[in-house]
Amino acid sequence: MCGIVGYVGEGSALNMVIEGLRRLEYRGYDSAGVAVLVDGKLETDKRAGKLANLEASLQEQPLPHSTTGIGHTRWATHGAPNDRNAHPHLDCTRSVAVIHNGIIENFAELRADLEERGHQLSSETDTEAVAHLLEEEVASLGDGLDLAEAMRRVCRQLEGAFTLVAVHVDAPDVVVGARRNSPLVVGRGDGENFLASDVAAFIAHTREAVELGQDQVVELRRDGVTVTTFDGAPAATHGYHVDWDASAAEKGGYDYFMLKEIAEQPQAVADTMLGRVGRDGRLHLDEMRLSDDELREVDKIIIVACGTAFHAGLVAKYAIEHWTRIPCEVELSSEFRYRDPVLTTRTLVVAISQSGETMDTLMALRHAREQGSRVLAICNTNGSTIPRESDAVLYTHAGPEVAVASTKGYLTQIVACFLVGLYLAQVRGNKYGDEIKSVVDDLRKMPDKVAAVLERMEPVRALARELRDCTSVLFLGRHVGYPTALEGALKLKELAYMHAEGFAGGELKHGPIALIEEGVPVIAVVPSSLGRGSLHDKVVSNIQEIRARGARTIVIAEEGDEGVVPYADHLVRVPSSPTLLQPLVTTIPLQVFAAEMAAARGHDVDQPRNLAKSVTVE
Ligand code: M6R
Repeated sequence: MCGIVGYVGEGSALNMVIEGLRRLEYRGYDSAGVAVLVDGKLETDKRAGKLANLEASLQEQPLPHSTTGIGHTRWATHGAPNDRNAHPHLDCTRSVAVIHNGIIENFAELRADLEERGHQLSSETDTEAVAHLLEEEVASLGDGLDLAEAMRRVCRQLEGAFTLVAVHVDAPDVVVGARRNSPLVVGRGDGENFLASDVAAFIAHTREAVELGQDQVVELRRDGVTVTTFDGAPAATHGYHVDWDASAAEKGGYDYFMLKEIAEQPQAVADTMLGRVGRDGRLHLDEMRLSDDELREVDKIIIVACGTAFHAGLVAKYAIEHWTRIPCEVELSSEFRYRDPVLTTRTLVVAISQSGETMDTLMALRHAREQGSRVLAICNTNGSTIPRESDAVLYTHAGPEVAVASTKGYLTQIVACFLVGLYLAQVRGNKYGDEIKSVVDDLRKMPDKVAAVLERMEPVRALARELRDCTSVLFLGRHVGYPTALEGALKLKELAYMHAEGFAGGELKHGPIALIEEGVPVIAVVPSSLGRGSLHDKVVSNIQEIRARGARTIVIAEEGDEGVVPYADHLVRVPSSPTLLQPLVTTIPLQVFAAEMAAARGHDVDQPRNLAKSVTVE
């Protein structure tokens, strides 16, 4: 939450910062602001609302040229999303400007002390306290400004989660950053350097990045980067090359990033398998950093995740238990830590997160590691905190996901979980090689099936437009169709702002059927009619039951499944796949439906209200 950019170099700091903010706006869009250093003065502008408001203001009243600057796009925590609470925040002397992502938990105490010492705070934010604390620390350090040392001293007074970036009028070519429990990455250019919440901000200028560790302060100059701990000791850093380029973070001709990301799913699914499954059906996951002996010891798996990633975990549970016979629980990260879960050294905790920065998941994995359990991260973002703090990691190769609503991130999380489940089965000998090979062969066919579904989405889009004025949509599924129903409902809630709920088909008669009235749309995900026939027939019975009570049934069923035809007001066909793999195709119409519904209702598909892509606060 909140996007942060810092720049020092030879180019226009304002242009660099605004360009970075454009790429980070998915992190929050309640307000945006910039500060640049010009001839010993701070020049700032900040506006409530989307970045476009700030850009319009800068167009009217441009800031003077500068080569050092910072910028922020906000997801509000403390204080309303107005101009006054927009970042950057300044101190009493207008010498220091600060931007922040996170929550400073002891801010009320800090603020009261500052006010007692005569500081005038003009916003309701927790961030502003930092600007005034920096003012004090800079003054106490005397001549020869050392902004990094002032920042270290301030950080030692702070509690909570924060990324902070600051500039000072007396340090014209310096940007200082700090991080605890919140992302910050350095981009190393030629004669210029960047700080940002995410590499996307500077990817058009450099693909050389440096991860910052927990409790570190970075001093950025044109020609160098110095990293220390909060205590001032030199800190070891890890540099890496970003393996995607700027075009991956562009809309590429689509109206919305979400549409582009939906379309990229065949490739993303294929890429996530690439190099990990041999033609002989054997899985190669040595990169995971968990030895076969460690995997053989596992006697319980707990998957922790939030939102869409949680739904990927629910799908994974069906597959992992079926293939490995290891008990597998799935829990919302935000609940896990607070309920005293039973964890041992033989428990494998799988933390799923697209961004790698979700605070609840980070806290859950820390808790698990404190109890001695091993943690495997499934993550899409290289260099992010969750994989860094885990014992092992398997990256999804979805490429950058910019739209707030996760799509390709979700499908690749499911694929990565499947790979982990199959690998466990291989290592532990739960399945014969030919059984694993048969699943792997099916998995290999999925990118083409995903592509085939995408080609026939026009009727789904037309239906979404037709239903644009309805007030509620219900989703129904069984087995892996149940998490698919939950995911369909989540997508619709977050994008269309309407009542949407997913149900397990078997639960219908235990309450939800009371919601059915004339014309209410119900999207039913029908399991394969092959193999687990009874499951299929039970969902068809559910469809009949709701239709008899007036529901308008939208049925997602496999090609060749004629049993559903009499009960479907609308039929969406997907290619036939083994039951466990079905979510990779049945989810897609639900994504398309939600995106089209949002557009038809006039919403911003990529930036739904009140949300942010990366939830870095609890
Ligand atoms: O980055 P993560 O995968 O940890 O994010 C988890 C959720 O915040 C995320 O999936 C959220 O639910 C999406 N907006 C759903 O589309």
